[in-house]
Amino acid sequence: MTSTSYTVTVRQATADDAGPLIAVLADAFHDGPVAEWLVPEPRDRRAIYYRYFKDALYHGLEHGEVYTTADLSAVAIWYPRLEPIRDSSHERQTTLETIAGVYAPKFTLLEAMFDAFHPDEPHHYLAYVAVDPQQQGRGIGAALLADHHRLLDRLGLPAYLEASNTRNRQLYLRLGYTAGPPLILPTEGLPIWRMWRGRQTPVGRSPFPTAPLPRRRAR
Ligand SMILES: CC(C)(COP(=O)(O)OP(=O)(O)OC[C@H]1O[C@@H](n2cnc3c(N)ncnc32)[C@H](O)[C@@H]1OP(=O)(O)O)[C@@H](O)C(=O)NCCC(=O)NCCS
Repeated sequence: MTSTSYTVTVRQATADDAGPLIAVLADAFHDGPVAEWLVPEPRDRRAIYYRYFKDALYHGLEHGEVYTTADLSAVAIWYPRLEPIRDSSHERQTTLETIAGVYAPKFTLLEAMFDAFHPDEPHHYLAYVAVDPQQQGRGIGAALLADHHRLLDRLGLPAYLEASNTRNRQLYLRLGYTAGPPLILPTEGLPIWRMWRGRQTPVGRSPFPTAPLPRRRAR
């Protein structure tokens, strides 16, 4: 379905749009308190965010609904959650270690916290919305969301999301959301070491990531 709103043309995204939309997500989310908490080292963050949002976009294309604008300057990834779902956390853990290396525990914690507080009532979940930083503040994000809200209103379904800062929280309040009590991230947690003794699995390889990214095994 294609629709136009406030001169912003919204359409469903396809795999052909993946490259530019991954860049929009990685660039839009690159700065801010959550990003700095997840990957404090900016040199690592750019590459990790690119891999994280590549995974998120393809997951959305396969399992959710992804919308973009005609000029590919914005992207919203929605998931119809008509029944409660429980993710396979071990499989997700492996994926996060591949994406984020030593930073994976924070990504795991963030996702686990989001999952734990996710409502069970039927709704659509806005997992991510992002606008190219060069194009922000021109009404594109609001128009992209309004387009899906109109569909939800026709279906009589609510929407749910996690707002990651006070500024985007204001936008969502203006679009008709109400805010619950905040989920507080542990910013200066104590380190807890995972320990392993004995034969390593797979053979000859540490079971833990030791660098921002797990090193490739020599072929
Ligand atoms: C949040 C976002 C999708 C809004 O899209 P947009 O096209 O910039 O927004 P609009 O022009 O329709 O509306 C403007 C409002 O969006 C919010 N906003 C704009 N830029 C923002 C930014 N960099 N970060 C957070 N919120 C922002 C503000 O509430 C702004 O209103 P204000 O100018 O009065 O403060 C977009 O700014 C963005 O990608 N931000 C970074 C990623 C992000 O925070 N995504 C949401 C995660 S929950």
